[in-house]
Amino acid sequence: MLDLFADAEPWQEALAPGAVILRRFALSRADTLLGGINDVAAVSPFRHMITPGGYTMSVAMTNCGKLGWATNARGYLYAAQDPITGNPWPPMPAVFQSLCHDAAMTAGYAEFVPDACLVNRYAVGAKLSLHQDKDEPDLRAPIVSVSLGLPAVFQFGGLQRNDPLQRLLLEHGDVVVWGGVSRLFYHGIQPLKPGVHPQTGEFRYNLTFRQAAYSE
Ligand code: SIN
Ligand code: FE2
Repeated sequence: MLDLFADAEPWQEALAPGAVILRRFALSRADTLLGGINDVAAVSPFRHMITPGGYTMSVAMTNCGKLGWATNARGYLYAAQDPITGNPWPPMPAVFQSLCHDAAMTAGYAEFVPDACLVNRYAVGAKLSLHQDKDEPDLRAPIVSVSLGLPAVFQFGGLQRNDPLQRLLLEHGDVVVWGGVSRLFYHGIQPLKPGVHPQTGEFRYNLTFRQAAYSE
């Protein structure tokens, strides 16, 4: 298929106060980012975490950076060690750090320095129910979220679970940044539709950068 946007410059779409979609922002670095995901998964493999309520998550996850997001019987937490390997999570690849820095700067969060990167892998049918990212102690830091591979429908609401939802298709190379007044807005991913992407096959990947430790 002829892709009319293949050579287009990235463009921005306002999402909410403090929130923006940087369309195709990561496209030129997508192959290197995917290589980084492979490197991370070679050290800390993708796994389906179990929620405190006993449900197996449909999204497969791993982490890189100083801290990694994980679940246990008591709740959600950030840990310095991968509970599967017992070792520290692999370091954030340099291309992850530079992409995150450039995206945060473009979105108006020039100070953002992530110490955690959650890597999500969606197979057909995988979804992330509506939730808030609220396990981070310092809510001054934004969330930077990078989409790679198959497209997915992103839901973005408000501070209340039943606030009206925007539904936006996130495609290969899109970056969403939210912070400030929208830092705790509910969001989720609808079940992945079947498809084949030239770079990622039957999967969608997402990188979510956070600051998970409090910084003075
Ligand atoms: C998340 O909310 O952690 C991930 C969102 C996404 O996969 O785009
Ligand atoms: Fe989230």
